[in-house]
This record gives sequence, C-alpha cells and structure tokens, in this order.
Amino acid sequence: MKKRILTGDRPTGRLHLGHYVGSLKNRVKLQDEYEQFVMIADVQALTDNFENPQKVRDNARELTLDYLAVGLDSHKTTILIQSMIPEIAELTVFFMNLVTLERVMRNPTVKDEVKQKGLGKNVPAGFVMYPVSQAADITAFEAHLVPVGEDQIPMIEQTREIVRKFNSLYGEVLIEPEALIGEVRRLPGLDGQAKMSKSLDNCIYLSDSKEEVEKKVAGMYTDPKRIHSTDPGDPEGNPVFVYHHAFNSNKDEVSDFEQRYKQGKIGDVEIKKKLAQVINDVLDPMRERRRVYESDLDKVDEILKAGTEKARKIATETMDKVRRAMKIDYFK
Ligand code: TRP
Repeated sequence: MKKRILTGDRPTGRLHLGHYVGSLKNRVKLQDEYEQFVMIADVQALTDNFENPQKVRDNARELTLDYLAVGLDSHKTTILIQSMIPEIAELTVFFMNLVTLERVMRNPTVKDEVKQKGLGKNVPAGFVMYPVSQAADITAFEAHLVPVGEDQIPMIEQTREIVRKFNSLYGEVLIEPEALIGEVRRLPGLDGQAKMSKSLDNCIYLSDSKEEVEKKVAGMYTDPKRIHSTDPGDPEGNPVFVYHHAFNSNKDEVSDFEQRYKQGKIGDVEIKKKLAQVINDVLDPMRERRRVYESDLDKVDEILKAGTEKARKIATETMDKVRRAMKIDYFK
C-alpha cells in the first residue's frame, strides 16, 4: 500500500514561483509515489483573517485553480477543504488538553508570525492554537508523511508530541507522522529580498500573463554596483542568476551568461529577455490547464466536493477510533 502524505496551504493569496519551486513542483512528483492529500486550510487562514471571510472564500477557489493549473491531478491527489470536515475541529478540541499553553506559545513558527504580523498582545487565542489544529489535520487523515519546508518543522514536532501523549494515555490509535524534507528551495524576490512574498509585492504569480512576466523580469534587481553593461558584474546571489539556475534547463547557456557577466561582456537586457522566456516556458502549460478549468468552474467545484467527501470519510473513521479510545462513544 502506498504511504499517505498530507500537505496544505492557507487560502490567503495567489500562488507564485516561490511556492512552485518550494513545494508545488515536488507535489506534482509526489502524487505518483504516494497517496496524496492536499488541504485548503481555510480554518487556519481564518485565525488571522476572521474579519475578512470573503478574502478567504475567494482565495479557496484561486488556490484550487492554482493546484490544478500546476498539474495536480484529481485522480491522484485528493484536494479538500478543511472547514467542511468538522471532525478536524472536534479532534482539535481534544488535542488542546494534551498541550500546555506554555508549549504552544513557545512554537517558533507562531512566535515569528506573531512578530511579523505585529499581533503582540492582541494575538487571537485561535491563532496560537493553530499548530494544535494542524496536528489534527495531519492525524485525522492518518498521514504518515508531511512534506514541508524548514519553517514548518516545529509544526511536525508539535504534532508528534501530541500523538505520543494521546497514544500513551488512550492507547495506540494515532499515527505519528514524519516530516518529508525534499529538495526545498527558496526563491528570492524580484527586488533581491531573501524571499518572494505577497506582502513584499515582489512576486511572479503562476497566474501572471506572458506580458506581466516580461515586465516584471525587465524591472528585476541585479548587481547594483554595475552601471554599464561593460562593467564586470557579480552573479553571486543576483536574483536574475538565481532564477536562471532554477528555471533555465540549458546549463551551458547559464554558465556562459555568468562568465560574460563577470567580464562585463553582456548586457542585463539580454539575460533578462532569456529569463522571461524560460519562465514563460514553465508557465505556459499551467496557463493552458488554467484556461480549461476556468471555463468549467462547475467541474472545479465537483473536484473539491468529491475530494472533501473522500477525505471526510477517513476523518470520520479516525474520530470513531478516537471516541472509543477516549471513552466518549456513548451511543453506538
Ligand atoms: N501551516 C501551513 C502553511 O501556513 C498550512 C497547513 C495547514 C498545513 N494544515 C497543514 C501544512 C497540514 C501541512 C500539513 O502553509
């Protein structure tokens, strides 16, 4: 039997190339090797967007389109909506007894986010609890593996602790998941910042048009010390070259560009033109698939509904076991 993996994203915005190299590309590959579940984590998104439910709702649809566009195949990957599976919320309540407030407050990912979002003392209780809810996401579907980036490792750690506590108290019911650390890469922003991020407005979105990509690439940050195309430039950490390495399959061309850049024998324009082209080559098949699904949104809803129903069945079975183990299976 194939091992089961579960991943997910919060529906708070369109996906970009950073998501593609960091996780989506890997998921397209993983769906052939594993039984893959991908969760649209709208409950989690609401923990810090509860004042803006329409945004979460709209992005749930966008996220589904991004998934399908990128090549997640609904026959291989089960796409589900978190909020439509109340068993996850139920499991979260029981998990909350198994973790101390001190422990959730210590979660480094949550700490970072609280700081980043400037939540301070106003952080909603639901927000600091989201790792507990994420532990329920993972265990409700009996996932063995969770493919994650480094920032999510504390989540898996917390999940494992909760599972161990549950199993030692109530019996061996839940599966202790492991992180699946693949070749996770981070893409710098168009502006040279360490990370491509919606809030920094330095992204190329998977749904950008050919023209938008050309325009964004033409405006990219390069070596600031290089004024003329005859000045020697530094390709090291230069986002234009980082992207070439990520997307240009012609490695000889990339090293030729690098050599000439260091010698001041090539202009930025030539390198950027080629970069826009290779990025568009990556995005073209996604645009094609997106067009097909956008013209049949009923089909998209059907995929989501079927995926959620399939997932809910598994979560219901897990909850039956949990209720029995916790002696709260009153009426059979
Ligand atoms: N926390 C993840 C993020 O911010 C989203 C997520 C929710 C998730 N539930 C999950 C990821 C379960 C992996 C497994 O991107």
